[in-house]
Amino acid sequence: MIFYLLFWTIPFLSTVEPANNKSLLHFGYITSLTGLFIPSGGRPAVDLALKLINEREDILQNYTLSYTDVLDSGCSHTKALDQFFELIQERNVTYISILGCGCSTATIPVAEVSHYWNIPLLAYASPANVLNDRTRFRNFFRTFVSFRHISSSLGQLMREFGWQQLSVITQDESLFTRVTDDLENNIFKTKGWILDRYDVPTGQDPLHYFDRNEAQTFKIIHINAYPNIAYTVLCEAYYRGMVAPTFLWILPLWYSADWWRSNSTYSSNNVSCTNQVMMQVLVGSIGIVPDGYLTLENESVVTFSGLTPRMYLDNYTDLILNDPLYENLMLLSLSGVAFDGVWAIAVGLDLASQRLSSGNVSGCEDVPGNLVPLEQFDYTNMKLGCIIRQSFSEVNFLGLTGQISFNEKGSRNDSVVLFQQYRAANGTIIRASVGTVTVLLNKAYFTFQNGESNTTLWNNGEPPYDGFPVTAFDKNNIILVFMYDMAATCGLVFVTICFSFNVAFRNRK
Ligand SMILES: *[C@@H]1O[C@H](CO)[C@@H](O)[C@H](O)[C@H]1NC(C)=O
Ligand SMILES: *[C@@H]1O[C@H](CO)[C@@H](O)[C@H](O)[C@H]1NC(C)=O
Ligand SMILES: *[C@@H]1O[C@H](CO)[C@@H](O)[C@H](O)[C@H]1NC(C)=O
Ligand SMILES: *[C@@H]1O[C@H](CO)[C@@H](O)[C@H](O)[C@H]1NC(C)=O
Ligand SMILES: *[C@@H]1O[C@H](CO)[C@@H](O)[C@H](O)[C@H]1NC(C)=O
Ligand SMILES: *[C@@H]1O[C@H](CO)[C@@H](O)[C@H](O)[C@H]1NC(C)=O
Ligand SMILES: *[C@@H]1O[C@H](CO)[C@@H](O)[C@H](O)[C@H]1NC(C)=O
Ligand SMILES: *[C@@H]1O[C@H](CO)[C@@H](O)[C@H](O)[C@H]1NC(C)=O
Ligand SMILES: *[C@@H]1O[C@H](CO)[C@@H](O)[C@H](O)[C@H]1NC(C)=O
Ligand SMILES: *[C@@H]1O[C@H](CO)[C@@H](O)[C@H](O)[C@H]1NC(C)=O
Ligand SMILES: *[C@@H]1O[C@H](CO)[C@@H](O)[C@H](O)[C@H]1NC(C)=O
Repeated sequence: MIFYLLFWTIPFLSTVEPANNKSLLHFGYITSLTGLFIPSGGRPAVDLALKLINEREDILQNYTLSYTDVLDSGCSHTKALDQFFELIQERNVTYISILGCGCSTATIPVAEVSHYWNIPLLAYASPANVLNDRTRFRNFFRTFVSFRHISSSLGQLMREFGWQQLSVITQDESLFTRVTDDLENNIFKTKGWILDRYDVPTGQDPLHYFDRNEAQTFKIIHINAYPNIAYTVLCEAYYRGMVAPTFLWILPLWYSADWWRSNSTYSSNNVSCTNQVMMQVLVGSIGIVPDGYLTLENESVVTFSGLTPRMYLDNYTDLILNDPLYENLMLLSLSGVAFDGVWAIAVGLDLASQRLSSGNVSGCEDVPGNLVPLEQFDYTNMKLGCIIRQSFSEVNFLGLTGQISFNEKGSRNDSVVLFQQYRAANGTIIRASVGTVTVLLNKAYFTFQNGESNTTLWNNGEPPYDGFPVTAFDKNNIILVFMYDMAATCGLVFVTICFSFNVAFRNRK
């Protein structure tokens, strides 16, 4: 606010302090404020990042970075495009980058065209795999860590602990069905492995899961859904005695820390589902999330922003709960990647401005356009666009959620998947990191976190039993075993007869 006042009063001042003689750089901010997935809670994180960036002297020193307003993509393909063209065509501001556009459905169409205006698009809430296609999305970057290795890492977890059957409750939305489809079509093609798939259409009662005969057979159950479904299912599981150590529930870890409390927005407001009930069913469950999704576990590491994860979380929570500016916004578990996303834009533009001031056009020599300072960028300047895109791909700093650098597809390293366990501690629940799965090209491996082992993880040091696979294959097997037994018995009888024959007639030669 103070800055805006200064900026607008500058023309009327005769003596201007050099420190305030900064040009404004704008990025467009499109996110989903309505629709299926609402990452609106990213805004306090974005604002906090901008405040820190603009206070810093060593980054974008001649510029002030800002957005004009927040546009709603409605998590919709068409609306997102409308909003993008609103920014590009209807405004008297030139945006040097776009932050957006909320959920993948909204981001995909914009990421497909935005490069024609020579500006990068940075997403923090768009997980879709398809966005890795560099031929379609040529100037796209994201701080969101993709979920594409979740299914492989679940497979590795199964191998590590000797399980062969898994039940998956999947919410019927692409974020979730993609993971389950991959489990079904790839991971569970392993011989002898059995996947019990139960899909819940959004808005329908997930408790029908329990009405099926299979429900009791499967002891390892993955809830692949938004937290409101997990809440209802786990509460019911408690009353059916489907709790640790016999049963193991595997949940997404990106749920907010307090999602299971009866005062959370995900609560079913059912009197049977008290905090005590939820705690008892949660203890022992496993959570799973790509590494780099949550803020760093060591909350005292000072990141490039100058904040530690602890300071950040305190500030963020304080803003979203107490600042009237952010009334009605929902706390966002991925707010860290929103914060890091704005820093990535700032660092990328800073690298570009350094290259421009030193006249370094290496790699963009043959691209048409004038070499002008960033504040003179216009959407037709391909040379500047080239330098900005290169600079974004060179970003590398320690963010709140881990190292922020982009691979050739504009995404962060997503090959490590983190596992945590819900544990009871001092009358509440904590999530303790227990291990990671690293997924490489042709193999995956599980590593226990320091201090963790089968003993800390499982009740008696033994992983829970997955329940016996009862399949046609095994029934056949039993018949086969019986036949072999019969054959063996016949063989023995025959041998005995022969032997007796020999013995009886040994003197007759
Ligand atoms: C302030 O900015 C104006 C225009 O951007 C420029 O002409 C002038 O030299 C700048 N002054 C200082 C002290 O940097
Ligand atoms: C910022 O502006 C000053 C004065 O115009 C200039 O000396 C300096 O090189 C600029 N910094 C960058 C990173 O361009
Ligand atoms: C840009 O447009 C807004 C209204 O749409 C107007 O208030 C503002 O003065 C304009 N800014 C410039 C620099 O023309
Ligand atoms: C943990 O237990 C599983 C199953 O018994 C076993 O395969 C695995 O090797 C154990 N891991 C370690 C590190 O001991
Ligand atoms: C409340 O939760 C219990 C346990 O899951 C369930 O049996 C019951 O049907 C729920 N009540 C309502 C009104 O949804
Ligand atoms: C819910 O309850 C917990 C524990 O009593 C409290 O710390 C938290 O602030 C409450 N959350 C809300 C949104 O009221
Ligand atoms: C956390 O980070 C701080 C500062 O970098 C370091 O001193 C401390 O040893 C770290 N703690 C753990 C448990 O790694
Ligand atoms: C926000 O972060 C600053 C450090 O930048 C810290 O001094 C302050 O206490 C934090 N505010 C809150 C409400 O946690
Ligand atoms: C020019 O920029 C490129 C890309 O950032 C960098 O690799 C190269 O070292 C720079 N060259 C000079 C002379 O600074
Ligand atoms: C991603 O992480 C894996 C595992 O830590 C590592 O082997 C790989 O080199 C990393 N890749 C990049 C591009 O950083
Ligand atoms: C439980 O509380 C005690 C005392 O307040 C504290 O020392 C201990 O670290 C806490 N344990 C956990 C697991 O948080």
